[in-house]
Amino acid sequence: MEARNDTISVIILAAGKGKRMKSTLPKVMHKLCGRTLLAHVIDATRSIAPGDICVVASREHEEIAGEFGDEVRFVIQKEPLGTGHAVGLALKTIEVRFSEVLVLPGDSPLIRPETLLELITLRRKGGFSASLITAVVENPEGYGRVLRDGQGNVLKIVEESDATDEERRVTEINASMYVFERNTLEGLLGEISPDNAQSEYYLTDVIQKLTERGAKLFALRVDAEEVMGVNNRMQLADVARVMRGRINDQLMEAGVTIVEPDSAFIDRDVEIGPDTRIEPFVFLEGKTKIGSGCRIGPFTTIRNCAIGDNCRIEFSWLEESVVGDECNIGPYSRLRSGCRLGRSVKVGGFVEMKNTQVGDGSKVPHLSYMGDTQIGEGVNIGAGTITCNYDGERKYRTVIGDRAFIGSDTMLIAPVRIGDDAATGAGSAIYEDVPDGSLGIERSKQRNVEGWREKRKKKRDERKDKK
Ligand code: UD1
Ligand code: CA
Repeated sequence: MEARNDTISVIILAAGKGKRMKSTLPKVMHKLCGRTLLAHVIDATRSIAPGDICVVASREHEEIAGEFGDEVRFVIQKEPLGTGHAVGLALKTIEVRFSEVLVLPGDSPLIRPETLLELITLRRKGGFSASLITAVVENPEGYGRVLRDGQGNVLKIVEESDATDEERRVTEINASMYVFERNTLEGLLGEISPDNAQSEYYLTDVIQKLTERGAKLFALRVDAEEVMGVNNRMQLADVARVMRGRINDQLMEAGVTIVEPDSAFIDRDVEIGPDTRIEPFVFLEGKTKIGSGCRIGPFTTIRNCAIGDNCRIEFSWLEESVVGDECNIGPYSRLRSGCRLGRSVKVGGFVEMKNTQVGDGSKVPHLSYMGDTQIGEGVNIGAGTITCNYDGERKYRTVIGDRAFIGSDTMLIAPVRIGDDAATGAGSAIYEDVPDGSLGIERSKQRNVEGWREKRKKKRDERKDKK
């Protein structure tokens, strides 16, 4: 990509109510592949025009302003009086050294940085007063239509609610993405009025004002997909589908196998190493990082985790945890937040862990709950073992030393420590520490009733005889 654009200021419009979403959340705060709509738009501009990024937002957005770092400024529009009004507010706050502005809607997250760069470059090269992005779409409903003259020059943009039937049949739409000469825009914004069906100050009216003055415009027609806007939940789902397709393609290009891309739900910020295989119905969310040579899924959710190389994880659910190389998890296990598995750890079927650290080579193969536990290296945890970490008020830790052997169905009543090389007898409720190398066993003595079967038969027969 070309050098950064130091003379451009970016204005992202995000103050609209988003009524059609029927949501309590501001529209641009809805999530798409792990990021808000607004974050996707901001990120598309960071690499090309990072000098000044200004988001026009409503009061409800104020609290999230810090999320985007110092590079992004927020200007509050108290009332959504229209896109023209919003741009006007932003312009007042932009330093004079910025001679061009790139205007983008906060609800169109599929725009690519390469396209924006083209929009900027083409305007400069041709000496145009403005450049704008358009697209020809199958269903133009809801969008402003681009009207051209006989020679194909853009004349004006008409909003759907103000359009005649004939104008509505036009399928070339305005993407609401423009580059303007700053001074020209400033002058023209003073001339627009809310004299239209929605009683709003339309930014689109500036286009007509320009052409009426004989100014030259450049319209960059792009693929419809790239300018898809989110006004309702159906469009949110459509846009998400496209975004997932892009993410999956990028991963496959980088050497990741995705068995069925339509069933791989991978967030934008996820990283995956080469030769990892993603089986169907896998959800990789947040800032998850997966090493190379892994096999993930089918049916697995991993959220904000770091997974090493050559791991196998199937039918499982992991959150906020770290997994070392060569671990084997599942089927049907759950790692809740704060787990840290070393190398070559096995977490088998129907195991739940929370805030638990497991040393290299240890195994928790079947049906266990390990909460607030520190497990050493080379430990074997027998089937059905659980930690009793909660007394109804507080949580307590269990510590299990290296090479310990925990008998099946042990109850570890925390706080408790099992020493290195120690063991527990199957079925024990262990409530006192077991020293290194010792066996802890807590079990009532078994009693055998000899000849029980015979005795029982005899009693039954006697009862029958009485009847
Ligand atoms: C707008 C364009 C339309 C274009 C479409 C593309 C206008 C008048 N219309 O229509 O030509 O086809 O986008 O998606 O510009 N906003 C504010 N303050 C306001 C009003 C809106 O910040 O007072 C923000 C919204 O949050 C949104 C963006 O501007 O992110 C566009 O507003 P929206 O109401 O979605 O406009 P559209 O009807 O989609
Ligand atoms: Ca819109």
